[in-house]
Amino acid sequence: MTLSLRNSRPGLSVLFENEKLVNEAMTRRLFVGGNWKMNGSKAKIAEMCQVLKNGHYGASARDADVVIGCPSVYLEHTNQVLPKFISAAAQNCYKANCGAFTGEISPSMIADCGVKWVIIGHSERRQLFGETDKLIAEKVSFALSNELKVVACIGETLQEREAGKTFDILMHQVQAIAGAIKDTEHWKNLVVAYEPVWAIGTGKVATKEQAQEVHAFLRKWLASKVSESVSQSIRIIYGGSVTGDNCRDLIKQTDIDGFLVGGASLKPDFIKIINCQSEGSRGSSVERQ
Ligand code: PGA
Repeated sequence: MTLSLRNSRPGLSVLFENEKLVNEAMTRRLFVGGNWKMNGSKAKIAEMCQVLKNGHYGASARDADVVIGCPSVYLEHTNQVLPKFISAAAQNCYKANCGAFTGEISPSMIADCGVKWVIIGHSERRQLFGETDKLIAEKVSFALSNELKVVACIGETLQEREAGKTFDILMHQVQAIAGAIKDTEHWKNLVVAYEPVWAIGTGKVATKEQAQEVHAFLRKWLASKVSESVSQSIRIIYGGSVTGDNCRDLIKQTDIDGFLVGGASLKPDFIKIINCQSEGSRGSSVERQ
């Protein structure tokens, strides 16, 4: 943590404010999101839920937010059959609650199915379906205004990284989202997922240094453009080839608050990722139903 309580002769209010920020930073709950993408069937969902129910979870996993992004046709079903501590999440939604938008689903429909979370702006939505920063920002804003919690994804392509444009690209993506948020209260329902496109589904995970550098950059940007309080309390998670093996080093980084997991979320490895902060979770296991 970079924030210091040391302050030259601070007034009491400054001291209290700093203390509040330190507390916020220290209490960022671990967030582990799975992203099943367009995979699964009722049989596969039953199998995966059984695997998750049989898992052993350590103490810190017990306090984590765990969600699974599943195909929209299975949202309600998945939400009902997942172990209780895991919530289903939609993988997309539109910026209106009803109307002539063939093929789309809305925040109110997601909520009507008993689901509280939605993933917006995944790189596959950006790259394969042409979603722009502007559309994604509008969708994030609309979902938050309609009581959903949002995982908003950002990330640079390999070409952009190699051209030295990583921070520029990320700044534009996060700026669009920040500019569209209508109420400061909505920030507490937002999780930002940094997912370098070159690491998604490639087996090429960002190094802990690369990921930490970006997460620290994002937190600093939020501190200067939004508020110190938002920058300290918001969860910034990493996604891109996360596995049960590499998650333990990544989570030790100061500014990494969890993960968005694609491939490994369809396998028992996901339990290891939920347990990324639990020491000896096998020995001191706690079953979560
Ligand atoms: P991956 O996908 O873990 O398979 O790389 C991550 C994601 O797309 O969110």
